[in-house]
Amino acid sequence: MNKCVSIAIDGPAAAGKSSVAKLLASKYHLIYIDTGAMYRAFTYAVIKAGIDPKDEAASCTLIGKVNIELKSNHVVTCNGEDVTKQIRTFEVSSNVSYIASYKDIRLELVEQQRRLAEKESVIMDGRDIGTYVLPNADLKIFQIADIRKRAERRYIENIEKGISCTLEDVIADLEKRDFIDSNRSFAPLSAANDAIVLDTSDMTLFEVVSSIGNLIETKLGIKEHE
Ligand code: CDP
Ligand code: CDP
Repeated sequence: MNKCVSIAIDGPAAAGKSSVAKLLASKYHLIYIDTGAMYRAFTYAVIKAGIDPKDEAASCTLIGKVNIELKSNHVVTCNGEDVTKQIRTFEVSSNVSYIASYKDIRLELVEQQRRLAEKESVIMDGRDIGTYVLPNADLKIFQIADIRKRAERRYIENIEKGISCTLEDVIADLEKRDFIDSNRSFAPLSAANDAIVLDTSDMTLFEVVSSIGNLIETKLGIKEHE
């Protein structure tokens, strides 16, 4: 592969974006960039500093002081601390959309995301990748699924990870985040005009990977990694 290729996967919470992106990254030898993990890590840092995430001015005082790294094996660090598990807690999930609505914090994280995509071929998932972070991405997917299906999937995932919650908690969290993410004024969740919308409500993970994989092979001419 000579030229750096970029693939954007956007969509609402728990639509299956990161699971699919990870599998596609290993299949087509791409670097996977989980931008949601970056907003989650910033939120973790705000809470750890004793700041109320609903307080924009106070949260923004951490800009330039939070060093987030996406390591191999999907490990996330925040100022050197491994926060891979902590960023998936309910406390972080229920506050992350406030942090992600602050323009100055977004600008800082978007700059890092663009830098990551400059030198390598990437598959990046988030909310504004196709519309704002990588508007010239070679392939844009907007992955959706019914709220009930998304909530059931996330609920099972949480229980497997030992995160205690009810299905109702998960539905409320996803609905709240989707609402804030879709209605913020700067770089909201929305499908780019040139994105391919994929409804995965009745698709298995394998079917989604194979469907996007076909697009990668036919549209981008990339072959499966041996
Ligand atoms: O995995 P899940 O769908 O639960 O969320 P995530 O991808 O980890 O993203 C967590 C939150 O970060 C989202 O609800 C958004 O508020 C924010 N986010 C964003 O605003 N822009 C992105 N590019 C990625 C995430
Ligand atoms: O990244 P995003 O929040 O969009 O979703 P995810 O964390 O990748 O997916 C949420 C859960 O749904 C994971 O446990 C997946 O294994 C599961 N799942 C899926 O992603 N796609 C399907 N077609 C079926 C299940």
